[in-house]
Amino acid sequence: MTDERETDNTPCFTDDMLLGIARDMRRHSHAPYSRFTVGAACRAESGVTYFGCNVENSSYPVGICAERVAVAAAIAHGEKKISVLALAGGMRDAVADGTITPCGMCLQFLSEFMSPEGKILIADGVDGRQEYALADLLPRAFNMQGPETDD
Ligand code: THU
Repeated sequence: MTDERETDNTPCFTDDMLLGIARDMRRHSHAPYSRFTVGAACRAESGVTYFGCNVENSSYPVGICAERVAVAAAIAHGEKKISVLALAGGMRDAVADGTITPCGMCLQFLSEFMSPEGKILIADGVDGRQEYALADLLPRAFNMQGPETDD
């Protein structure tokens, strides 16, 4: 059966809402080992938003960061490109969100699906935010295709 719904690229969530979701997603974090909880929300080019949190494991390297959970969810739903990633994290018992930077592995993972101009929003304290382009945080991402191709 054909899906007759029209595609609407108007985002359901504003950037501020995206950051609010990332802050809220910290509640779902499974972080009994580090007690450092991270929430992420990414908006795909379709306008749809996907969520993630860090999920740790008793075998420590098996754990996964919030950013990769959110981006992998988007890709698993058929998305091809991520426009915005919002992130919030800090120690579980702290009153406010800390100010975190996506780890190097997540930045490289993201660079597969986000252009260098793609937006990264980071929660800063109780209601502040920082904004970067992916290229600010990862200026020379590894890319086997080289800079000339975009697929
Ligand atoms: N973590 C993230 O989820 N994202 C990052 O960018 C950095 C770190 C998680 C991994 C681990 O569960 C906890 O934070 C402490 O490193």
